[in-house]
Amino acid sequence: MVVQLRYLIFILLFGAARTAVVPSPQQCRCHPTEPCWPSAPAWNALNSSIEGNLIAVRPFAHICHDPTYDSDSCQEARRMSNESLWLSANPGAVQIANWAAFPRRNETCYVDSIQSIPCGQGRISLYSAVVRKTEHIQAAVRFVRKHNVRLAIKNTGHCFLGRSVAPDSLQILTHNLKSIEFVDDFRPQGCPNDGKGYGSAVTIGAGVQLKDLYTALGQRNITAVIGAAHTVGAAGGYIQGGGHSPLGTWKGMAADNAVEFEIVTAKGNLVIANNFQNSDLFFALRGGGGGSWGVVTRVTIRTFPDPPCAVQILNISSANSTAFWAFVEEFHVNLPIINDGGGSGYYFLTPSNSSTNLSTLDIALFFVGHQSETIMASVLDPLIEFANATLSPSSVVLTRLQAPGFRYVIDQILPGSSDTGGAIVRIGSRLVSHSFLSNRPGATKLTNALKQISSSFPGGTITGHVVSGGQVALNSNLDVAINPAWRRTVTHLVGGVSWAPNSTVEEQREKERQVTELLVPLLAKLEPDMGAYLNEADAYEREFQTSFWGDKYPRLKMIKKKWDSEGIFITRRGVGSEEWDEEGMCRV
Ligand SMILES: Cc1cc2nc3c(=O)[nH]c(=O)nc-3n(C[C@H](O)[C@H](O)[C@H](O)COP(=O)(O)OP(=O)(O)OC[C@H]3O[C@@H](n4cnc5c(N)ncnc54)[C@H](O)[C@@H]3O)c2cc1C
Ligand SMILES: *[C@@H]1O[C@H](CO)[C@@H](O)[C@H](O)[C@H]1NC(C)=O
Ligand SMILES: *[C@@H]1O[C@H](CO)[C@@H](O)[C@H](O)[C@H]1NC(C)=O
Ligand SMILES: *[C@@H]1O[C@H](CO)[C@@H](O)[C@H](O)[C@H]1NC(C)=O
Ligand SMILES: *[C@@H]1O[C@H](CO)[C@@H](O)[C@H](O)[C@H]1NC(C)=O
Ligand SMILES: *[C@@H]1O[C@H](CO)[C@@H](O)[C@H](O)[C@H]1NC(C)=O
Ligand SMILES: *[C@@H]1O[C@H](CO)[C@@H](O)[C@H](O)[C@H]1NC(C)=O
Ligand SMILES: *[C@@H]1O[C@H](CO)[C@@H](O)[C@H](O)[C@H]1NC(C)=O
Ligand SMILES: *[C@@H]1O[C@H](CO)[C@@H](O)[C@H](O)[C@H]1NC(C)=O
Ligand SMILES: *[C@@H]1O[C@H](CO)[C@@H](O)[C@H](O)[C@H]1NC(C)=O
Ligand SMILES: *[C@@H]1O[C@H](CO)[C@@H](O)[C@H](O)[C@H]1NC(C)=O
Repeated sequence: MVVQLRYLIFILLFGAARTAVVPSPQQCRCHPTEPCWPSAPAWNALNSSIEGNLIAVRPFAHICHDPTYDSDSCQEARRMSNESLWLSANPGAVQIANWAAFPRRNETCYVDSIQSIPCGQGRISLYSAVVRKTEHIQAAVRFVRKHNVRLAIKNTGHCFLGRSVAPDSLQILTHNLKSIEFVDDFRPQGCPNDGKGYGSAVTIGAGVQLKDLYTALGQRNITAVIGAAHTVGAAGGYIQGGGHSPLGTWKGMAADNAVEFEIVTAKGNLVIANNFQNSDLFFALRGGGGGSWGVVTRVTIRTFPDPPCAVQILNISSANSTAFWAFVEEFHVNLPIINDGGGSGYYFLTPSNSSTNLSTLDIALFFVGHQSETIMASVLDPLIEFANATLSPSSVVLTRLQAPGFRYVIDQILPGSSDTGGAIVRIGSRLVSHSFLSNRPGATKLTNALKQISSSFPGGTITGHVVSGGQVALNSNLDVAINPAWRRTVTHLVGGVSWAPNSTVEEQREKERQVTELLVPLLAKLEPDMGAYLNEADAYEREFQTSFWGDKYPRLKMIKKKWDSEGIFITRRGVGSEEWDEEGMCRV
């Protein structure tokens, strides 16, 4: 007995200590140099199970570097390197070029960097499952789970926070899942058989891009709440992150209008999430962020008759900086009134720098559902009067027009300007509340912060998104994971930095540091209880849990534990990512 007891104590003391210090095998994902890395036959087996759609991936610019340099192919790659649609389809590319690089490993592969520097794989996946059907996604998810390989889901690759890439990973490329199906009266699976449907809706495959969807909707004279950029995905990170739109003021956020998701879970199962089944997952998929819950295969969203739309474009340009900033302040004081009057849209603030003394503020506003210019005039004339009184006539250019439908706005007024890809950029952002700007002191403080940002980041443009208020504010009672700060927001402000492809790692770090330590705090300190939009934010966002989700984070964390306890789906600054290192490779 005594001996046995001593033995038991030994096990308790040292056995417990042992399990505490030796990392469990799942502590880190498997690297290609380790014995755990899948063998060639294992990759071949995956390839067969997805019908030959597995490819070994190199960064698309590798043909611009020794030893794989090829003059003609490189010229073609250079030509395509800003073409967003091409970058979407290419497994070896993303839209924001810097995310393909991996500074920590000193690995880059830009089309423009020196030929003799070899192409580093960077954060580009090693393999891609170019999926054509749901079963392929299930096979790929089961494969990464079995072999402990890092997974990356790439749809279009637009993520500003680099969530569609991961080093040493298997990529699932959703680009080819392009189905679009309309239904007159949608009935979610499992809803009570009381004859009542949800009205008209459209079910879209994971790879559908916004312009594809606008075109299909336009042919039926209907529309849906989706964003402005033509090449962003409609069913991936966009809607799962909340999804803002110029139609938001009229009908709510994109995720507010999602009625059903079909999704492959961490176990590789295909499930339906809606109000009647897996409603916790349904909550999380509506604003909880892409890439954290599973691989969405299809989503169903509401559709509406295409509304008429009154449009105003106001271009301000001035060399008088005092008068210019006074106008910026006046515009922001008027913004809550414009937004309450139904106005949504975008504005671009480009302050002067030492070489050009001209500052510009380009404002494009849409009054969705409004037929006449009356409402536009009543809410905008005070601002125009101010401009007339303080700026020279040549500084103020005003265009007003009536669009027959929102489709016209997308085709004629926002004709694919953001179809340009390939930029090197890191952004920082903040949501600014309606109540903050409803008082002059708020607008003054914001204007001073914008002035400081523009002097610290010369040459940069600050973009304002007026995409909330109206129905977005009215939807605050909806049980969705969207950042509650969106319901109080009148403008979403985004600034950023860029650097040359040949910048040193240190130069790049310094730029990134300025975003996190200067740009974001200048805006964040104005309203500490607001936050940021998780899809358009600093990749190193501090306290991202509250900044992106407010008080909804604990519930999201529980749902994450239930559906993905192993952490198959981890993205930068996503739900549960605090348990992993920056690249989602090792648990911390
Ligand atoms: C030029 C430009 C314009 C933009 N305009 C808008 C706008 O008008 N409104 C707005 O709200 N946002 C806008 N954004 C931000 C946009 O919402 C995000 O970049 C979003 O992440 C893009 O989603 P994606 O699926 O197209 O891109 P990806 O980068 O491919 O994916 C983004 C994230 O979603 C995950 N994901 C993708 N597909 C799936 C899937 N099927 N299942 C699960 N996870 C998935 C990825 O793993 C990744 O984490 C814009 C961005 C850019 C670069
Ligand atoms: C997968 O199979 C296809 C068809 O047999 C083949 O062309 C391709 O090279 C394979 N992929 C890999 C990574 O081996
Ligand atoms: C990074 O790579 C470049 C190009 O190959 C090389 O010149 C440089 O010395 C490397 N830097 C470090 C820190 O390894
Ligand atoms: C859409 O509207 C146009 C113009 O009002 C009309 O000519 C056309 O028939 C409509 N198409 C459909 C599919 O309703
Ligand atoms: C610039 O604008 C301010 C404010 O409207 C005005 O007081 C000032 O005279 C202007 N300066 C010049 C050089 O026009
Ligand atoms: C910009 O303004 C400064 C100061 O008023 C002046 O010296 C300079 O010539 C101006 N530059 C241009 C390009 O107009
Ligand atoms: C006015 O602003 C719009 C919206 O940004 C822009 O597309 C257009 O080129 C600008 N026009 C002028 C004259 O500056
Ligand atoms: C502003 O000035 C323009 C041009 O002088 C004029 O046509 C317009 O009516 C003025 N607008 C307001 C609201 O005062
Ligand atoms: C890409 O750049 C080229 C050359 O600068 C330009 O002609 C082309 O219009 C650009 N394409 C896009 C989509 O911006
Ligand atoms: C000033 O602005 C011009 C035009 O936007 C830009 O080309 C230039 O790089 C900027 N200069 C600096 C110092 O940022
Ligand atoms: C990067 O390239 C630019 C021109 O393309 C050159 O002026 C600059 O000196 C280069 N910087 C470094 C750090 O090599």
